[in-house]
Amino acid sequence: MRSVPSLMLEPALNPNQDAGTSRDALGLGGASTGGLDTRHGTILTLEDISVSFDGFKALNNLNLYIGVGELRCIIGPNGAGKTTLMDVITGKTRPTAGKAWFGETLDLTQMSEVQIAQAGIGRKFQKPTVFEALTVFENLELAQKTDKSVWASLRARLNGEQRDHIERTLGTIRLDAFAQRPAGLLSHGQKQFLEIGMLLMQDPQLLLLDEPVAGMTDAETEFTAELFKGLAGQRSLMVVEHDMGFVGTIADHVTVLHQGSVLAEGSLEDVQADERVIEVYLGR
Ligand SMILES: Nc1ncnc2c1ncn2[C@@H]1O[C@H](COP(=O)(O)OP(=O)(O)OP(=O)(O)O)[C@@H](O)[C@H]1O
Ligand SMILES: [Mg+2]
Repeated sequence: MRSVPSLMLEPALNPNQDAGTSRDALGLGGASTGGLDTRHGTILTLEDISVSFDGFKALNNLNLYIGVGELRCIIGPNGAGKTTLMDVITGKTRPTAGKAWFGETLDLTQMSEVQIAQAGIGRKFQKPTVFEALTVFENLELAQKTDKSVWASLRARLNGEQRDHIERTLGTIRLDAFAQRPAGLLSHGQKQFLEIGMLLMQDPQLLLLDEPVAGMTDAETEFTAELFKGLAGQRSLMVVEHDMGFVGTIADHVTVLHQGSVLAEGSLEDVQADERVIEVYLGR
Protein backbone atom coordinates (compact mmCIF):
# COMPACT_ATOMS: atom_id res chain seq x y z
CA MET A 1 0.00 0.00 0.00
CA ARG A 2 1.39 3.39 -0.89
CA SER A 3 1.22 5.88 1.87
CA VAL A 4 1.46 9.07 -0.17
CA PRO A 5 -1.06 9.19 -2.99
CA SER A 6 0.62 10.81 -5.96
CA LEU A 7 -2.55 12.71 -6.70
CA MET A 8 -1.79 15.02 -3.82
CA LEU A 9 0.67 16.56 -6.22
CA GLU A 10 -1.90 16.71 -8.99
CA PRO A 11 -5.13 17.96 -7.45
CA ALA A 12 -6.64 18.70 -10.85
CA LEU A 13 -6.73 15.00 -11.61
CA ASN A 14 -8.51 14.04 -8.42
CA PRO A 15 -12.19 13.42 -9.13
CA ASN A 16 -12.96 13.06 -5.43
CA GLN A 17 -11.22 16.09 -4.03
CA ASP A 18 -14.05 17.14 -1.81
CA ALA A 19 -14.51 13.64 -0.39
CA GLY A 20 -11.23 13.83 1.52
CA THR A 21 -12.60 15.25 4.73
CA SER A 22 -15.28 12.64 5.20
CA ARG A 23 -12.82 9.83 4.43
CA ASP A 24 -10.49 11.17 7.07
CA ALA A 25 -13.38 11.43 9.48
CA LEU A 26 -14.10 7.76 8.86
CA GLY A 27 -10.50 6.88 9.56
CA LEU A 28 -10.04 5.41 6.11
CA GLY A 29 -6.86 7.33 5.40
CA GLY A 30 -6.18 8.41 1.84
CA ALA A 31 -8.26 5.82 0.07
CA SER A 32 -12.02 5.75 -0.21
CA THR A 33 -13.15 2.16 0.04
CA GLY A 34 -16.90 2.74 -0.14
CA GLY A 35 -17.85 0.55 2.80
CA LEU A 36 -15.57 -2.27 1.70
CA ASP A 37 -13.76 -3.93 4.60
CA THR A 38 -10.05 -3.43 3.91
CA ARG A 39 -8.81 -3.18 7.45
CA HIS A 40 -5.68 -5.19 6.72
CA GLY A 41 -4.77 -2.89 3.83
CA THR A 42 -5.40 -5.50 1.13
CA ILE A 43 -8.11 -4.91 -1.45
CA LEU A 44 -7.65 -8.12 -3.45
CA THR A 45 -6.45 -11.52 -2.28
CA LEU A 46 -5.99 -14.40 -4.72
CA GLU A 47 -4.70 -17.66 -3.29
CA ASP A 48 -3.88 -20.87 -5.17
CA ILE A 49 -6.14 -19.87 -8.07
CA SER A 50 -6.29 -22.35 -10.93
CA VAL A 51 -8.35 -22.25 -14.12
CA SER A 52 -8.48 -25.25 -16.44
CA PHE A 53 -9.77 -25.21 -19.99
CA ASP A 54 -10.18 -28.86 -21.02
CA GLY A 55 -7.22 -29.87 -18.91
CA PHE A 56 -5.04 -26.93 -19.98
CA LYS A 57 -4.16 -24.77 -16.99
CA ALA A 58 -4.51 -21.12 -17.99
CA LEU A 59 -3.92 -20.20 -14.33
CA ASN A 60 -1.91 -22.48 -12.10
CA ASN A 61 -1.82 -21.97 -8.31
CA LEU A 62 -1.64 -18.24 -8.70
CA ASN A 63 -1.13 -16.07 -5.61
CA LEU A 64 -1.57 -12.32 -5.80
CA TYR A 65 -2.23 -9.57 -3.25
CA ILE A 66 -3.10 -5.99 -4.16
CA GLY A 67 -2.89 -3.29 -1.51
CA VAL A 68 -5.44 -0.52 -1.03
CA GLY A 69 -4.50 2.39 -3.28
CA GLU A 70 -1.84 0.40 -5.11
CA LEU A 71 -1.12 0.70 -8.83
CA ARG A 72 0.02 -2.78 -9.88
CA CYS A 73 1.23 -3.64 -13.35
CA ILE A 74 0.92 -7.19 -14.63
CA ILE A 75 3.27 -8.15 -17.44
CA GLY A 76 4.13 -11.42 -19.14
CA PRO A 77 4.27 -13.14 -22.52
CA ASN A 78 1.24 -13.81 -24.72
CA GLY A 79 -0.86 -16.58 -23.26
CA ALA A 80 0.57 -16.14 -19.74
CA GLY A 81 -2.94 -15.85 -18.30
CA LYS A 82 -3.21 -12.07 -17.76
CA THR A 83 -6.66 -11.66 -19.31
CA THR A 84 -7.86 -14.89 -17.69
CA LEU A 85 -6.79 -13.41 -14.35
CA MET A 86 -9.07 -10.42 -14.97
CA ASP A 87 -11.84 -12.79 -16.05
CA VAL A 88 -11.57 -14.58 -12.70
CA ILE A 89 -11.61 -11.37 -10.67
CA THR A 90 -14.70 -10.08 -12.48
CA GLY A 91 -16.60 -13.38 -12.28
CA LYS A 92 -16.57 -13.98 -16.05
CA THR A 93 -14.57 -17.18 -15.53
CA ARG A 94 -14.89 -19.35 -12.43
CA PRO A 95 -11.66 -20.67 -10.95
CA THR A 96 -11.42 -24.46 -10.79
CA ALA A 97 -9.68 -24.05 -7.45
CA GLY A 98 -8.50 -21.35 -5.09
CA LYS A 99 -9.72 -18.38 -3.11
CA ALA A 100 -10.55 -14.89 -4.33
CA TRP A 101 -11.46 -12.16 -1.84
CA PHE A 102 -12.39 -8.54 -2.42
CA GLY A 103 -11.52 -6.79 0.81
CA GLU A 104 -11.76 -9.00 3.86
CA THR A 105 -15.26 -10.34 3.46
CA LEU A 106 -16.43 -10.60 -0.15
CA ASP A 107 -15.87 -14.01 -1.72
CA LEU A 108 -15.63 -13.30 -5.45
CA THR A 109 -16.02 -16.97 -6.33
CA GLN A 110 -19.57 -16.87 -4.94
CA MET A 111 -20.67 -13.66 -6.65
CA SER A 112 -22.16 -12.99 -10.09
CA GLU A 113 -20.51 -10.60 -12.57
CA VAL A 114 -23.16 -7.98 -11.78
CA GLN A 115 -22.69 -8.35 -8.02
CA ILE A 116 -18.92 -8.00 -8.41
CA ALA A 117 -19.30 -4.84 -10.50
CA GLN A 118 -21.75 -3.42 -7.95
CA ALA A 119 -19.38 -4.25 -5.11
CA GLY A 120 -16.81 -1.94 -6.70
CA ILE A 121 -14.66 -3.72 -9.27
CA GLY A 122 -14.62 -1.96 -12.64
CA ARG A 123 -13.07 -3.36 -15.78
CA LYS A 124 -11.99 -1.78 -19.01
CA PHE A 125 -11.61 -4.01 -22.02
CA GLN A 126 -9.20 -3.18 -24.80
CA LYS A 127 -11.83 -2.09 -27.30
CA PRO A 128 -13.74 0.99 -26.16
CA THR A 129 -17.47 0.41 -25.88
CA VAL A 130 -19.00 3.86 -25.76
CA PHE A 131 -22.41 4.84 -27.16
CA GLU A 132 -21.30 6.52 -30.37
CA ALA A 133 -24.54 8.35 -31.11
CA LEU A 134 -24.73 9.91 -27.66
CA THR A 135 -22.66 12.87 -26.52
CA VAL A 136 -19.70 12.53 -24.18
CA PHE A 137 -21.81 14.04 -21.38
CA GLU A 138 -24.69 11.62 -22.03
CA ASN A 139 -22.32 8.66 -22.00
CA LEU A 140 -21.11 9.67 -18.54
CA GLU A 141 -24.67 10.32 -17.44
CA LEU A 142 -25.73 6.83 -18.46
CA ALA A 143 -22.78 5.28 -16.68
CA GLN A 144 -23.88 6.63 -13.30
CA LYS A 145 -25.13 4.05 -10.87
CA THR A 146 -28.78 3.66 -11.68
CA ASP A 147 -31.28 0.91 -12.25
CA LYS A 148 -33.27 2.92 -14.76
CA SER A 149 -33.48 2.15 -18.47
CA VAL A 150 -31.35 4.14 -20.92
CA TRP A 151 -34.13 6.48 -21.94
CA ALA A 152 -35.56 6.89 -18.47
CA SER A 153 -32.06 7.80 -17.29
CA LEU A 154 -31.57 10.40 -20.00
CA ARG A 155 -35.02 11.91 -19.38
CA ALA A 156 -34.63 12.03 -15.62
CA ARG A 157 -33.33 15.37 -14.36
CA LEU A 158 -29.88 15.28 -12.90
CA ASN A 159 -29.50 16.63 -9.42
CA GLY A 160 -26.66 19.03 -8.65
CA GLU A 161 -24.47 16.37 -7.14
CA GLN A 162 -24.79 14.09 -10.17
CA ARG A 163 -24.03 16.99 -12.50
CA ASP A 164 -20.95 17.89 -10.41
CA HIS A 165 -19.75 14.30 -10.55
CA ILE A 166 -20.02 14.32 -14.35
CA GLU A 167 -18.25 17.70 -14.58
CA ARG A 168 -15.43 16.50 -12.33
CA THR A 169 -15.05 13.33 -14.38
CA LEU A 170 -14.97 15.33 -17.63
CA GLY A 171 -12.05 17.28 -16.13
CA THR A 172 -10.28 14.14 -14.97
CA ILE A 173 -10.39 12.60 -18.45
CA ARG A 174 -9.72 16.00 -20.09
CA LEU A 175 -12.83 15.95 -22.23
CA ASP A 176 -14.46 19.11 -20.79
CA ALA A 177 -14.25 20.83 -24.16
CA PHE A 178 -15.90 17.84 -25.86
CA ALA A 179 -18.85 17.34 -23.52
CA GLN A 180 -21.49 17.98 -26.19
CA ARG A 181 -19.73 16.09 -28.98
CA PRO A 182 -21.13 12.74 -30.12
CA ALA A 183 -18.76 10.05 -28.83
CA GLY A 184 -18.53 8.58 -32.34
CA LEU A 185 -16.57 11.67 -33.43
CA LEU A 186 -13.84 11.27 -30.78
CA SER A 187 -10.36 9.94 -31.58
CA HIS A 188 -9.51 6.37 -30.55
CA GLY A 189 -7.60 7.66 -27.52
CA GLN A 190 -10.41 10.00 -26.47
CA LYS A 191 -12.88 7.12 -26.66
CA GLN A 192 -10.59 5.19 -24.34
CA PHE A 193 -10.55 8.13 -21.90
CA LEU A 194 -14.32 8.40 -22.11
CA GLU A 195 -14.64 4.73 -21.25
CA ILE A 196 -12.35 5.21 -18.27
CA GLY A 197 -14.58 8.13 -17.27
CA MET A 198 -17.63 5.88 -17.56
CA LEU A 199 -15.94 3.42 -15.22
CA LEU A 200 -15.16 6.22 -12.77
CA MET A 201 -18.81 7.28 -12.69
CA GLN A 202 -19.52 4.01 -10.89
CA ASP A 203 -16.94 4.85 -8.27
CA PRO A 204 -15.07 1.53 -8.34
CA GLN A 205 -12.52 0.78 -5.63
CA LEU A 206 -10.53 -1.54 -7.88
CA LEU A 207 -10.02 -0.83 -11.58
CA LEU A 208 -8.81 -3.50 -13.99
CA LEU A 209 -7.36 -2.23 -17.26
CA ASP A 210 -6.31 -4.62 -20.02
CA GLU A 211 -3.73 -3.10 -22.41
CA PRO A 212 -5.05 0.45 -21.99
CA VAL A 213 -2.49 2.23 -24.19
CA ALA A 214 -2.56 -0.15 -27.17
CA GLY A 215 -3.12 1.95 -30.30
CA MET A 216 -2.65 5.28 -28.51
CA THR A 217 -0.41 8.12 -29.68
CA ASP A 218 2.60 9.03 -27.53
CA ALA A 219 0.79 12.06 -26.13
CA GLU A 220 -2.27 9.96 -25.25
CA THR A 221 -0.06 7.34 -23.61
CA GLU A 222 1.60 10.06 -21.55
CA PHE A 223 -1.74 11.41 -20.41
CA THR A 224 -2.93 7.90 -19.53
CA ALA A 225 0.14 7.51 -17.30
CA GLU A 226 -0.66 10.79 -15.54
CA LEU A 227 -4.30 9.82 -15.18
CA PHE A 228 -3.52 6.43 -13.62
CA LYS A 229 -0.97 7.90 -11.24
CA GLY A 230 -3.59 10.43 -10.22
CA LEU A 231 -6.21 7.76 -9.59
CA ALA A 232 -3.93 5.50 -7.56
CA GLY A 233 -3.90 6.21 -3.86
CA GLN A 234 -7.63 6.75 -3.68
CA ARG A 235 -8.42 3.70 -5.82
CA SER A 236 -6.50 0.54 -6.56
CA LEU A 237 -5.52 -0.25 -10.14
CA MET A 238 -4.40 -3.42 -11.86
CA VAL A 239 -2.96 -2.67 -15.29
CA VAL A 240 -1.99 -5.30 -17.86
CA GLU A 241 0.36 -3.82 -20.45
CA HIS A 242 3.08 -4.90 -22.87
CA ASP A 243 4.42 -1.36 -23.34
CA MET A 244 7.45 -1.36 -21.02
CA GLY A 245 8.02 2.37 -21.39
CA PHE A 246 4.52 2.94 -20.06
CA VAL A 247 4.93 0.37 -17.28
CA GLY A 248 8.19 2.05 -16.26
CA THR A 249 6.42 5.40 -15.97
CA ILE A 250 3.53 4.28 -13.78
CA ALA A 251 4.44 1.20 -11.79
CA ASP A 252 6.11 0.96 -8.46
CA HIS A 253 5.27 -2.71 -8.25
CA VAL A 254 5.22 -5.21 -11.11
CA THR A 255 4.06 -8.82 -11.25
CA VAL A 256 5.34 -11.08 -14.02
CA LEU A 257 3.01 -13.90 -15.05
CA HIS A 258 4.24 -16.94 -16.90
CA GLN A 259 2.28 -20.10 -17.70
CA GLY A 260 -0.49 -19.11 -15.31
CA SER A 261 1.70 -18.48 -12.26
CA VAL A 262 3.60 -15.59 -10.75
CA LEU A 263 7.19 -15.82 -11.99
CA ALA A 264 8.54 -12.69 -10.32
CA GLU A 265 7.39 -9.65 -8.41
CA GLY A 266 9.05 -6.38 -7.43
CA SER A 267 10.08 -3.06 -8.90
CA LEU A 268 10.33 -2.98 -12.70
CA GLU A 269 14.09 -2.70 -12.29
CA ASP A 270 14.19 -5.82 -10.13
CA VAL A 271 12.10 -7.95 -12.47
CA GLN A 272 13.95 -6.67 -15.52
CA ALA A 273 17.17 -7.90 -13.95
CA ASP A 274 15.69 -11.32 -13.10
CA GLU A 275 17.25 -14.01 -15.29
CA ARG A 276 14.06 -16.06 -15.48
CA VAL A 277 12.06 -13.03 -16.62
CA ILE A 278 14.66 -12.17 -19.26
CA GLU A 279 14.52 -15.78 -20.45
CA VAL A 280 10.73 -16.04 -20.92
CA TYR A 281 9.68 -12.48 -21.68
CA LEU A 282 12.09 -9.66 -22.17
CA GLY A 283 14.62 -11.47 -24.35
CA ARG A 284 18.36 -11.12 -24.27
N1 LIG B 1 -12.07 -19.74 -23.04
C1 LIG B 1 -10.90 -20.36 -23.27
N2 LIG B 1 -10.86 -21.66 -23.68
C2 LIG B 1 -9.68 -22.30 -23.88
N3 LIG B 1 -8.49 -21.73 -23.70
C3 LIG B 1 -8.45 -20.46 -23.29
C4 LIG B 1 -9.65 -19.69 -23.05
N4 LIG B 1 -9.29 -18.45 -22.63
C5 LIG B 1 -7.95 -18.43 -22.63
N5 LIG B 1 -7.44 -19.62 -23.01
C6 LIG B 1 -6.02 -19.97 -23.10
O1 LIG B 1 -5.44 -19.65 -21.84
C7 LIG B 1 -4.13 -19.11 -22.01
C8 LIG B 1 -4.06 -17.77 -21.34
O2 LIG B 1 -4.77 -16.84 -22.12
P1 LIG B 1 -4.90 -15.29 -21.75
O3 LIG B 1 -5.80 -14.69 -22.75
O4 LIG B 1 -5.28 -15.17 -20.32
O5 LIG B 1 -3.39 -14.78 -21.95
P2 LIG B 1 -2.79 -13.31 -21.88
O6 LIG B 1 -1.69 -13.35 -20.89
O7 LIG B 1 -3.88 -12.33 -21.67
O8 LIG B 1 -2.15 -13.14 -23.33
P3 LIG B 1 -2.02 -11.83 -24.28
O9 LIG B 1 -0.79 -11.09 -23.81
O10 LIG B 1 -1.81 -12.42 -25.63
O11 LIG B 1 -3.27 -11.03 -24.17
C9 LIG B 1 -3.88 -19.06 -23.51
O12 LIG B 1 -3.13 -20.21 -23.86
C10 LIG B 1 -5.26 -19.11 -24.11
O13 LIG B 1 -5.24 -19.72 -25.37
MG1 LIG C 1 -4.69 -10.76 -22.80
